[in-house]
Amino acid sequence: MCRNCDDPGSRDCPSLCAKTVTKHPQANPYDSISELYDPWSVSVTEDVGFYLDEARRSGGSVVELGIGTGRIAVPIAADGIRVIGVDSSRGMLDVCARHRRLALSAARRLLVPGGRLVFDVFTPGPDDIEQTHDRWVEREPGIWERAVWNMDARTLTLSVRGEETAATTMALAWIEPAEWRVLLEETGFEVEACYGWFDRSPFTGGEDTIWVAGRSS
Ligand SMILES: C[S@@+](CC[C@H](N)C(=O)[O-])C[C@H]1O[C@@H](n2cnc3c(N)ncnc32)[C@H](O)[C@@H]1O
Repeated sequence: MCRNCDDPGSRDCPSLCAKTVTKHPQANPYDSISELYDPWSVSVTEDVGFYLDEARRSGGSVVELGIGTGRIAVPIAADGIRVIGVDSSRGMLDVCARHRRLALSAARRLLVPGGRLVFDVFTPGPDDIEQTHDRWVEREPGIWERAVWNMDARTLTLSVRGEETAATTMALAWIEPAEWRVLLEETGFEVEACYGWFDRSPFTGGEDTIWVAGRSS
């Protein structure tokens, strides 16, 4: 049965499926125009400065709901503000992921000599996927989550609901630690440390990586 539309005939026609928009009326229409979105909105620039100002005024990290391709989030991240993006369109997030390199390059340009870029990311292990895939798990009392992992696309479709709160679903993506290292090095960083946990123990192949990187010389 399809996870998107309960179509019993097609188990695996998630939003990546090219037929999704016509076959599944509730599919995200942005999937089919994700590659067109940036050229289509190239002249829409009037809102970027406004949101950048608001992000600066927040004084901290920001969350963009419906981050899309990162049209607004990338300039905010380039300003040194941490942006957490949520979007239900895998296609839009794929394009956004390609902008990751731009965001890292911008962060590199902003880094003062001696400054460091510090962040943590998660790469799921087979155990985690096996234990959680496609089942509702009570993560905290009364708070349930369901993770649908796609190892090929390396995406996680995560739904969260409370006892009386309707489920909300977000699309996330990951890359492997080795790819993070290459990405950092290619964008002008030198990795100072890659920890496997917040106690600063070295990364030895677990699921979490905590990166500390400075400017490469
Ligand atoms: C008009 S685009 C805006 C993208 C970006 N914020 C920008 O300004 O360029 C709307 C985005 O919201 C996303 N979206 C729509 N409904 C959503 C939902 N319920 N949950 C998460 N994302 C959603 C779409 O996938 C799309 O990427």
